[in-house]
Amino acid sequence: MAIVTFSSPLMHKDKAVYAIAGDTKTILALAEEHRIPIPFECRDGNCASCLIEVSYDEPERKKAIMLTEKEKTTLKELGKLTAQEIEDAEVRDMPPRYRLACQFIARDEDVTITFTGTPGGA
Ligand code: FES
Repeated sequence: MAIVTFSSPLMHKDKAVYAIAGDTKTILALAEEHRIPIPFECRDGNCASCLIEVSYDEPERKKAIMLTEKEKTTLKELGKLTAQEIEDAEVRDMPPRYRLACQFIARDEDVTITFTGTPGGA
């Protein structure tokens, strides 16, 4: 079970929720379930409204990073993902700093998700 902590200037205080291991819920779905106001529009990796910044509570632990082609394309277009970061994620299991909440599935790592509340503003 992972602990996902959401943090935003829009929220009164940070909120930590559990993500169930083996669940395939996205961070956006988890946020909605707990009434956490991450902006979104398409829910499909195209609009970038749901841009989030992700930090791992145990950065030294290897992660299985799953970036969809759509997420890579959208983040690259925004200037939030470099070719080096894609290689680091896919070859060295090093997670990128920015993700799309509608594409990022919570696994078993504890993470902190930060968002401004401005669509695409991370
Ligand atoms: Fe559009 Fe996530 S809601 S990219």
